[in-house]
Amino acid sequence: MKSKLKGRSFLGLLDYSPEEINELIDLSAQVKQEKREGKFPRRLENKNIALLFEKNSTRTRCAFTVAAIDEGAHPEFLGKNDIQFGKKESVADTARVLGRMFDGIQYRGFKHETVEGLAGHAGVPVWNGLTDAFHPTQVLADFLTIKEQKGYLKNIAFSFVGDGRNNMANSLMVGAAKMGMDFRIVAPKSLFPEAKLVETAKAIAKENGASIMITDDISEGVKNADVIYTDVWVSMGEEDQFEERIKLLLPYQVNADMMSKTGKTDTLFLHCLPAFHDLKTDVGVEIYKKFGIEAMEVSDEVFESDNSKVWDEAENRMHTIKAVMIATMAD
Ligand code: CP
Ligand code: NVA
Repeated sequence: MKSKLKGRSFLGLLDYSPEEINELIDLSAQVKQEKREGKFPRRLENKNIALLFEKNSTRTRCAFTVAAIDEGAHPEFLGKNDIQFGKKESVADTARVLGRMFDGIQYRGFKHETVEGLAGHAGVPVWNGLTDAFHPTQVLADFLTIKEQKGYLKNIAFSFVGDGRNNMANSLMVGAAKMGMDFRIVAPKSLFPEAKLVETAKAIAKENGASIMITDDISEGVKNADVIYTDVWVSMGEEDQFEERIKLLLPYQVNADMMSKTGKTDTLFLHCLPAFHDLKTDVGVEIYKKFGIEAMEVSDEVFESDNSKVWDEAENRMHTIKAVMIATMAD
């Protein structure tokens, strides 16, 4: 099954049209259904994929691995200390070597320029599994989850609450603009997204009947929300900023009070995960000892509520990543 997307990299949603994003979401729903029915068409037989990770991962790594094996491909995990990448060998040289051996490359790491550099030199599709700037495969899983729950994406009122300038906020803003959503970022002013990206997203929104609001006013930002989404307050690589972020973001914790401000009872709660919602992690305990808070970005009550669809969302990482690999790599 050859898609029009064959040979394309997937670095961010800015490069994909609304039709192409819809194609990927529809293919994700299809491969999810096939797996439910026990059908494994093995569309990636004899393909090899490199999984390059400079940062930790549970979902993205497992999603690429399981999706590849389901489809008959061989995944090879390359951790940051396993290869010469960046230390003794440049991004361009590494890309040219990997591109001679592998049929696709996943990269998770810091600089967005790195994934662009890989894509520019590999000669095979490169997939962005998260950079400091964008996390596009996560957005596909989020949108598939919303579609499953609500039936559609257009005009969905979507509030991202928290660190409004992180990779998730950036990617969701672009994705929502493409999908015609009523999108809001609800964050303290010092954590608003970059003005240039907001401008770009607003221009895309105009073409697709979407709207973009950036506000520090919680009541205004979550009013009528169909979805409230949050993410960690401190992203990977920023671990020295807990104190400042906690001070800034405590009023923006997603809790029962915030959920009630939507004025709806069926508002979905989504989170890309991992989440700090209790004291069952080392970092959670450390933060509790230092700052006396039992949860950060989301209360345990909301996280564990019926409105929370975080496990569907996590499962959908695998189906959506499978769809991206099939669309861009299958013969
Ligand atoms: N949501 C997400 O990307 O999770 P991981 O960091 O575990 O891959
Ligand atoms: N913003 C988070 C997302 C994790 C999936 C981070 O970059 O750490």
